[in-house]
Amino acid sequence: MNVAVIGLGKIGLTLAAQYASRGLSVIGCDINAALVESVNNGQCPVDGEEDLAERLTTAFRDQRLTATTDTAAAVATSDVVVIIVPVGLTGDQTPGGQMPDFTHLDAAVADVARGLRLDTLVVVETTVPVGTTRGRVGAALANAGHPLLLAASPERVSSGHIFRDLRTYPKVIGAIDEASWTKAEAFYSAALEAPRLLRVHDPETAEFSKLAEGIYRDVNIALAGELARYADAAGVDITEAIDAANSQPYSHLHQPGVGVGGHCLPVYPHFLPGDSGARLPLAARKINDGMAAYGVSKLEQALGSLKGATVLVLGLAYRPNVKEASYSSALLIDQALRSRGATPLVHDPLYSDDELAALGLDPVAALPPGHTDAVIVQAWHDAYADLDFAAFTGCKVVLDGRNTLDRARVEAAGVRYLGIGR
Ligand SMILES: NC(=O)c1ccc[n+]([C@@H]2O[C@H](COP(=O)([O-])OP(=O)(O)OC[C@H]3O[C@@H](n4cnc5c(N)ncnc54)[C@H](O)[C@@H]3O)[C@@H](O)[C@H]2O)c1
Repeated sequence: MNVAVIGLGKIGLTLAAQYASRGLSVIGCDINAALVESVNNGQCPVDGEEDLAERLTTAFRDQRLTATTDTAAAVATSDVVVIIVPVGLTGDQTPGGQMPDFTHLDAAVADVARGLRLDTLVVVETTVPVGTTRGRVGAALANAGHPLLLAASPERVSSGHIFRDLRTYPKVIGAIDEASWTKAEAFYSAALEAPRLLRVHDPETAEFSKLAEGIYRDVNIALAGELARYADAAGVDITEAIDAANSQPYSHLHQPGVGVGGHCLPVYPHFLPGDSGARLPLAARKINDGMAAYGVSKLEQALGSLKGATVLVLGLAYRPNVKEASYSSALLIDQALRSRGATPLVHDPLYSDDELAALGLDPVAALPPGHTDAVIVQAWHDAYADLDFAAFTGCKVVLDGRNTLDRARVEAAGVRYLGIGR
């Protein structure tokens, strides 16, 4: 089976390596020529993805994976086309004004249409608004004169342990008809070790399941955030309370923190149409985006004032060990600190000083830093495991924005510990 994967990013490249490791013949397609070149040179352009470099080396050696910028040509030789280019949001920052941005998807589909054969299955794995696979992708391919084999199968994995997730999670698939399902079933049975293929009624149900999954988590974290604020007021430790609550099988509270970043959870609530009638998802977005300022206000209270204070933010990445800064809470923390007269510095071992500066941040190249009055933990990378706050000159307070540090260890370093709801 020949497979074309359109979009060789963190997810697409890993999917390509997965399919190749199952013996399929894979062509990865991307508009980024440097990325394509590195794959064709047997190099792994993604850091921190468990087992990816090894699988790429094997795929390269066995000639199971090549890459190209010529999507139409690759599609013309493929039995299955998997589309995994991003759909993000338009830049409009007004409340409720952010809309899905289909630029990359439309361009990719136009290229696919130029090469598509009659018997080739197209699967949309990108997370998309309900109706996109049939109404947008399907319509564009049909306009180009193609009878369609088409399905939606949103990718549910998380960066860092994608191969594990592919092995562990059922693969949700919704096809437009029986012929499309039959081909999708054959493809995913060959390409994955998934515990089961979970067929849903149609592509719309598959698309919606992924939105529901993401929005559930965002809303759940917002609830945890609001409970954490109350825990602070009531003098209760939220982590202990959540552990106790979750010991009953109907409670599944997530952990509060200084915000929710990444290009998934903050994005998907905006994929519901304005007239959906759903009020909670966007309310939760607001609450989650307010947690950065809430954390900073806790720090301000502890220090008395932030005017003139130097505050080191640990971790630009939206979560530990993943080089992805979209909608990172670090950016909101930086803004909140500046608006209170503090000087924020940012450290992240995954980013160069130039990359941090390009986002308008003041980088700290090495730890311990020079004088700093306080630290905010935004993403606790593995590289931070041995940090000793006693070596941080001037540091009086650590705000553990992820409730992840060992409180006793911070306090043993002579530094005050603050958490979110603790
Ligand atoms: N990152 C995650 O943790 C995650 C998890 C689950 C699902 N997803 C889904 O996967 C999508 C992609 O995520 P990612 O992390 O791989 O993104 P990414 O930004 O790492 O990679 C996207 C790739 O698509 C390429 N691209 C853009 N336009 C193209 C075109 N017209 N033709 C070919 N290639 C094109 C880009 O050059 C880039 O290499 C997300 O938008 C989301 O829907 C992501």
